[in-house]
Formats: sequence, C-alpha cells, structure tokens
Amino acid sequence: MKLFIDSGNLKEIEALVPLGIIDGITTNPSLLAKEPGDYRELLKRICDIVQGPTSAEVVATDVDGMLREGRELAKIDKHIVVKVPFTKAGVQACKTLTSEGHRVNVTLVFSATPALPAHKVRATYVSPFVGRLDDIATSGMNLISDIVQIFDNYDFTTEILVASTRGPIHIVDAARMGADICTCPASVIEAMFKHPLTDIGLERFLKDWEKAQTVKA
Ligand code: E4P
Repeated sequence: MKLFIDSGNLKEIEALVPLGIIDGITTNPSLLAKEPGDYRELLKRICDIVQGPTSAEVVATDVDGMLREGRELAKIDKHIVVKVPFTKAGVQACKTLTSEGHRVNVTLVFSATPALPAHKVRATYVSPFVGRLDDIATSGMNLISDIVQIFDNYDFTTEILVASTRGPIHIVDAARMGADICTCPASVIEAMFKHPLTDIGLERFLKDWEKAQTVKA
C-alpha cells in the first residue's frame, strides 16, 4: 500500500519525505488556504520535493470551470493529479480530463455508489473519507471494505485512496482491507513511529552495550 501525506505544509513534507516511505501528497482547498504565498508556487515546490503524485483540487463547481482550473493545475508540474469532487459536474469533468491524458482524483466520497461512475470516467483515484464518517458515528472502514470488494469483483483499475485518516489504526485497517493508498496528516505518520516498548527497548540495548564496554575496558 502506498503512503501519501495529506498536507500542503512544506515543513511537514520536507521532514517526512527523506524517510523514504512517502509515495505522494494530497492537498485540498482547506489545507492550501492555511499556507502563505501563491498556491501554484507551493504546489510546484511540493512536486519537486516529493517527485510523486500530488493532488490539487479545483474550486469551481461547474464543468467548464473545473476543466479550466484542472488544465491550469496540470500545467504546474507533471506530478499534479487534478482533484474533483464527486458531483455530476465533477464526474463529467473527470471524463474529459482523463481523455486528455490528465490524472484525476475523485474526492469527497462518502458511500460506495461512486465506485462505478469513477471507474467509468477512468478516474486514477477515488478518495473515500473515513474520519469524517467516523465523526458521525458511521464506520468509515466499512466503506473501504465495500469499495475494495466492488473493485475486486470487476478488476477496476481506479485506485482506492483512503482519506480523512485520524490515526495509525486507519493505516493498518486500510492495508488489511487491501486499499491501494492511505493518505495521512503528518501527525498520523509521526504517530506510527511512537511505541513505548521501542523506546524502552532501545534504551535498554544502549545501556547494556555501554555497561559491557566499561567492563571490557
Ligand atoms: C483527502 O484528500 C483530503 O484532503 C483529506 O484526507 C480530508 O481529511 P479531513 O477530514 O481530516 O479534513
């Protein structure tokens, strides 16, 4: 399973990419709105750092506007993936953009019904939001399981990108269910590296090593 960072923050991205475990980035208008400067320059810098798929979302809600914005976003860098919401306009724009050779991420997916339309318009990714479903007492992970089953039934090539993750358990569940990608805020990726037994174990190894060196000396 590929791991993406869900962020538009350069510091977060620069800190995690050198680990060698990051395959791409997802952004959205809320994330980019928090960052200073021109969003196009920011997206370009992100693409240069990550050298992998970087989703950038349109803000137009009509087909023509989405196409105009999508084509402009795609010009920023070869790694840009145009993100469109799962609306009728978004699906129609996806069909045109993919037929022009652009990659498209269909986002804001909260049920399994978008699976078929997303595949038909050749979406590169479909992004179900697990955390926002959990927030309203509905299992986000059940949705992933349903979509994985539907895609497997028909060998759909659209990749399932698990979004709106809230903790490392979402990464484990997404991988267990066979999702293609999990995108996480930097804090969730940082949390993967936190286990008290690792810290205690490392401390003990180092102490034992140090003690042995003193005895041998
Ligand atoms: C995904 O592409 C979205 O940017 C993101 O995962 C939304 O997450 P949120 O529900 O934490 O805002």
